Amino acid sequence: MNRKNDIYILACLFVSVFFSCKHGEGEYHSLHDKIQAESKIHQDSTLSSEAFFNHIKTIEITEGEHTFLIPERKSQIKSFACIECHTEPLDKLKSKDIKKAHWDITLSHANSNTMNCATCHNANDMNNLNTLTGIQVDFNSSYKLCAQCHSSQFEDWKGGAHGKRIGGWAPPRASFTCVNCHNPHSPSIESRWPSRFNTEQIDDPHEGLEH
Ligand code: HEC
Ligand code: HEC
Ligand code: HEC
Ligand code: HEC
Repeated sequence: MNRKNDIYILACLFVSVFFSCKHGEGEYHSLHDKIQAESKIHQDSTLSSEAFFNHIKTIEITEGEHTFLIPERKSQIKSFACIECHTEPLDKLKSKDIKKAHWDITLSHANSNTMNCATCHNANDMNNLNTLTGIQVDFNSSYKLCAQCHSSQFEDWKGGAHGKRIGGWAPPRASFTCVNCHNPHSPSIESRWPSRFNTEQIDDPHEGLEH
């Protein structure tokens, strides 16, 4: 080895021994130290997502080990309170000569052997939903109905893997509930074509249709 190389190595050693442990504020010895130190700052911080969803009313729910907020629903349902009309049994309300009250609702969910209005609504207690075994469920907790049949999506949703957060990742956690995205009467989400950002002209199967 030549002398020039030795001097270079010595110089490097000098630099690393004398300078490596001197840190300015915000500098860390290693990535690991940085993560540890900065996560402590965040634990102590008052960073909050609340500002991003305080324009909507939320309720707090606890499912298993997860506690989080979901949007309140009752104030969003046009025809609530149901008992404004549902004061008597359905057969009394039903009349052959008037237009159906809920003409705008058609079930396009499971087939009619599995599901009808009474699967979720109780004619004797219209202001609440009801489970398959007849247990009362508040309209604000309608996810409990869905969970009966869609347990894997429900498990994912509890942990945050299915659905979407409202606001940011900072606490408190607020997530959309099933009916914010799926219409319970027709829950399937239509496939959509991806947006195209290039200007290339290709044969568009939707040519001539409104976008
Ligand atoms: C403006 C009056 C009115 C309100 C408000 C109303 N309903 Fe009804 N609903 C009716 C009438 C009338 C019928 C029965 C005759 C018909 O289908 O037109 C009916 C029927 C129903 C049926 C049975 C439908 C069938 O085909 O068997 C369900 C389920 C129902 N309503 C649920 C609800 C729920 C849930 C709410 C509240 C979110 C609600 N209704 C609010 C008037 C109303
Ligand atoms: C899979 C469960 C389910 C079935 C089946 C079901 N509903 Fe509903 N329905 C719901 C839930 C959940 C809501 C509340 C949705 C929300 O929070 O926006 C609702 C809301 C309603 C409302 C109030 C919303 C509005 O648009 O006015 C009416 C009325 C209603 N249902 C009538 C019916 C009728 C009539 C049937 C049968 C044809 C039926 N539902 C079948 C779950 C169901
Ligand atoms: C009584 C059982 C039952 C309940 C309660 C129920 N579902 Fe379903 N749901 C089904 C069945 C059965 C199907 C049809 C499955 C299929 O086509 O693969 C279905 C289909 C769906 C689909 C479409 C799946 C697809 O691949 O397109 C969605 C989304 C959905 N349900 C969401 C909901 C939501 C949200 C609720 C609560 C408001 C709910 N379901 C309540 C039984 C139920
Ligand atoms: C933020 C919106 C959002 C929320 C909240 C949400 N979903 Fe979905 N869900 C979707 C989308 C988007 C798809 C995918 C549709 C597709 O791939 O065609 C989907 C798909 C599904 C399917 C079809 C099968 C599958 O996994 O692709 C079911 C069943 C379902 N959701 C049930 C639920 C239930 C039950 C809840 C509440 C516990 C819920 N979803 C909450 C948006 C949502």
